Amino acid sequence: MEYVRLGSTGLTVSRLCLGTWRFGRETDGVVETDRETAHELLDAAHERGINFIDTANRYGNPHGTAERFIGEWLEERNREDFVVASKVYFPFNGWGEPGHNDEGLGRKHVRAQIEGTLDRLGTDYIDIYYIHRWDESTPIEETLRTLEDLVREGKVHHLGASTMAAWQLTKALWTSDVEGYESFDVAQPLFHAAYRDDVKEYLDVCIDQDLAVCPYSPLAGGFLTGKYERVDPDDPTAFEGPEGSRGDIYDRFDDYYLSERGWHALDEVRAVAEECGATPAQVALRWLVEQDRFTCVPIVGARTVDQLAENVGAVDVSLSDDQFDRIVDARYAEDGQRWGHRS
Ligand SMILES: NC(=O)c1ccc[n+]([C@@H]2O[C@H](COP(=O)([O-])OP(=O)(O)OC[C@H]3O[C@@H](n4cnc5c(N)ncnc54)[C@H](OP(=O)(O)O)[C@@H]3O)[C@@H](O)[C@H]2O)c1
Repeated sequence: MEYVRLGSTGLTVSRLCLGTWRFGRETDGVVETDRETAHELLDAAHERGINFIDTANRYGNPHGTAERFIGEWLEERNREDFVVASKVYFPFNGWGEPGHNDEGLGRKHVRAQIEGTLDRLGTDYIDIYYIHRWDESTPIEETLRTLEDLVREGKVHHLGASTMAAWQLTKALWTSDVEGYESFDVAQPLFHAAYRDDVKEYLDVCIDQDLAVCPYSPLAGGFLTGKYERVDPDDPTAFEGPEGSRGDIYDRFDDYYLSERGWHALDEVRAVAEECGATPAQVALRWLVEQDRFTCVPIVGARTVDQLAENVGAVDVSLSDDQFDRIVDARYAEDGQRWGHRS
């Protein structure tokens, strides 16, 4: 495993982070990753040198199950060996019934949620605490002051921001600066080789303000592994894939992950993989790891130990500037823009 300093923080993390969104998650009454498999995945990640775990209060059914699975696993290990990130924003007990203060980034909800997160993870502190989304109805000053208190109390070490608009991230950073609050050091956008909508401006902010970037869904939910085939040249959302895969069980898979640009990018990822003697998943992850304008640590969401083992192989791949740039070009094939090239 390779390790890297996480942006401007003093944290050293593995080049890949383990994602736990599917831990305890139920689809059609079936648990996607049960406790036993979750613990096998954590073991396999640890054995391969991954020291960075990403979770959220919201993951699992009931919510909090993912944090509980991780906490049970950590109980038998040295907490200090791991960098653990969690998140707050979404309703925890339901879908935001009015009058319950059960969602968003207000002081009351954030303070309640951090206690639950610490309890389930069985730890005194979270290494990185992300705001999962932007809260339109709470002044960012209230959120930042609350997060500042958590840092002062030692419950949180570093702050992170997940998906939001570039102007929102900028406003939060500016407010921290002006008010002298602890600032976001890590960003967690949706970013992968087949995607570019909205994210360019956001990444420009991260580059300028020296934030580390931990992209989620780095394989576009599995699309960039090459296991899906296009079945209609006129419709980029028509596809076939293996039974039981995410594409098979999620209604919104095509909306989320499939686009004309995505298929172009996948063709290039496949071609580069062939040249490198690697798999498309490894090349797609390596393309993120080798971003040279910001520290980039993709959050891998493997469902099985075999998938995880394949994905960790990304650390043994190396892309030439030409291979890296060809994947950038494929993402911008439609309009010929140039952004993100290495050479
Ligand atoms: N901040 C946010 O809002 C947010 C949102 C989403 C996720 N996240 C975080 O990011 C993590 C990763 O997201 P993600 O799960 O969408 O990541 P992803 O890497 O894009 O997709 C992971 C899925 O692709 C398939 N896959 C992975 N490796 C494979 C391989 N080698 N061969 C074949 N199939 C493979 C598996 O699904 P199947 O086998 O079922 O096809 C797996 O569950 C999450 O666990 C979570 O921690 C954060």
